[in-house]
Amino acid sequence: MKVVILDNAADVAKYGADIFIKQISAKADSVLGLATGSTPVALYKELIHAHQNQQVSFSQVSSFNLDEYLGLSGEHSQSYRHFMNEQLFDHVDIDKNNTLVPPGDAKNPLIACHEYEQTIKESGGIDIQLLGIGRNGHIGFNEPSSSLGSRTRVKTLTQETIDDNARFFAEGEFQPHLSITMGIGTILEAKKVVLLATGENKAQAIVDTVQGAITANCPASALQFHPDTVIIIDEAAASLLENKEFFRHIERENQKLESSLAL
Ligand code: F6R
Repeated sequence: MKVVILDNAADVAKYGADIFIKQISAKADSVLGLATGSTPVALYKELIHAHQNQQVSFSQVSSFNLDEYLGLSGEHSQSYRHFMNEQLFDHVDIDKNNTLVPPGDAKNPLIACHEYEQTIKESGGIDIQLLGIGRNGHIGFNEPSSSLGSRTRVKTLTQETIDDNARFFAEGEFQPHLSITMGIGTILEAKKVVLLATGENKAQAIVDTVQGAITANCPASALQFHPDTVIIIDEAAASLLENKEFFRHIERENQKLESSLAL
């Protein structure tokens, strides 16, 4: 697990976006795993900017989103499909037919979950998965107690997550308590994982993810098993880590190695 500590949230977004741009430059038909929430918004802005500057094209890219609220159709303004259109897809040259979000309005969500897994497999698998993290260590909507081998399924949200996400809903508006989410096992099959976290309220979840035991109580800790995960965090999210200096040292060494290889 590589941990990159940067000065602020803007640097986190740039660093993360560069990884995606490199991925798409190396493989034009990359399969992206995408996330919603407030954290990736700045990264998506960086990607849009790079696209406008002709640095990257999404024309051959396809994508799978991590999760969707159960009970909301893609047209609903609070759906994650709507979010993705607004924050990224409407502003780049991606073919929306190649962008998949779990169907929150599926007649039979159990079948829909199985089909989502199948479609990921048929695409050849996710090349690079973007993640945020909940204060309780959730990734996707895999709340604490999720099986570390779980697959795409219907998941009940914790009260903490419902409260955290209430800010996106108007007062009195229906807020779903259920979701469809890729499982932890699904996420672990992505070839590369990029997790972003910013702000002090993520500091404990980051300690538990990076330095804690691998446990279903902190679903993101399962990433310790993953061979190619990078955790990109700002100073505030890193504030409780014990060996910050060591992580900084490793990153400086990695940068040196990368630039010497580029010569
Ligand atoms: C959303 C998702 C969630 C969020 C997490 C953090 O697709 O997968 O796990 O990444 O809830 O949300 P923010 O970024 O709003 O703090």
